[in-house]
Amino acid sequence: MIKKIAVLTSGGDAPGMNAAIRSVVRSSMSYGIKVFGVRDGYLGLIHDDIFELGPDDVSGIIVQGGTILGSARVPGFKEAAVRELALENLKKHEIDALVVIGGDGSYRGALSLAKSGIAVATIPGTIDNDIPGTEQTIGFDTALNTAIEAIDKLRDTSTSHHRCSVVEVMGNHCGDIALYSGIATGAELVITPETGFDFKETIQHLRELDEVRKKKHAVVVISEKLTDVEDLAVHISAQTSFSGRSTVLGYVQRGGSPTAMDRILATQMGDSAVKSLVEGNKDHAVGWIDGKISSMPIEAAFEYKRSRKDDLFDLQKRLV
Ligand code: F6P
Repeated sequence: MIKKIAVLTSGGDAPGMNAAIRSVVRSSMSYGIKVFGVRDGYLGLIHDDIFELGPDDVSGIIVQGGTILGSARVPGFKEAAVRELALENLKKHEIDALVVIGGDGSYRGALSLAKSGIAVATIPGTIDNDIPGTEQTIGFDTALNTAIEAIDKLRDTSTSHHRCSVVEVMGNHCGDIALYSGIATGAELVITPETGFDFKETIQHLRELDEVRKKKHAVVVISEKLTDVEDLAVHISAQTSFSGRSTVLGYVQRGGSPTAMDRILATQMGDSAVKSLVEGNKDHAVGWIDGKISSMPIEAAFEYKRSRKDDLFDLQKRLV
């Protein structure tokens, strides 16, 4: 029977992580389980920065962005000797199970711990929406709304000045923030890791919008890591009649109070992670599939094929 659960947040932070922490704490208490917070992700496990959390410690945090526990990327956690320190510290505090809120790197760390005998449950937390075993991650909806608000504003000024705004959004190797924000703002062009970036095609498309469609502006939403957007804007100015301007939204997408959707998703996922551990699962990943909460072994989550977005890419193109 589980008596003590620890919870940590790991990798890039995401709005809604606090709502998930609150849910894990309050849900565990409803089962009579004690909860411990771990500071700065796997670092806290290694350095024994582990402390008890009471119900009041999570009071009011459902509305807060970031994570009260702190987060870190810990590449060294791949090493067995480093993980051994973490296991010793968990044992020292007599912790039976661990909830990990984070991205796929954090999932791999959790799986390795599970293989060493500690029960784990993972919750997908990242703005990128790119975690195995779920169609939606905590933080994606808030980041998407932040991007939409910024792109709407950029469109206003682009129209006034016959400009082409190239807006770089985050997403790591996943184009979901670009695709969904592009559709929601009626962007003229969406470029993602899935579509690939083709310089000639991009310029040709913008020329058509300008010369044939007589558009007053163009908004290009592009995922990070595909090209230098400042350089692209310079080429747009030189090769079309639009004046090119680039904006990198950057870390603003990682902050802010979570949307209703992220708060509710995080609350349900936190509770499901605890339930999964109480039911005796040793290595489950909680997710959101077919409009409801799911739970499957972490290894199965890595095999799960997320749904393709071809229809959405097609929709975006047809409605320009
Ligand atoms: O994983 C979330 C994310 O914000 C990505 O979109 C981005 O590529 C990366 O993190 C940035 O990482 P860091 O916080 O380490 O600079």
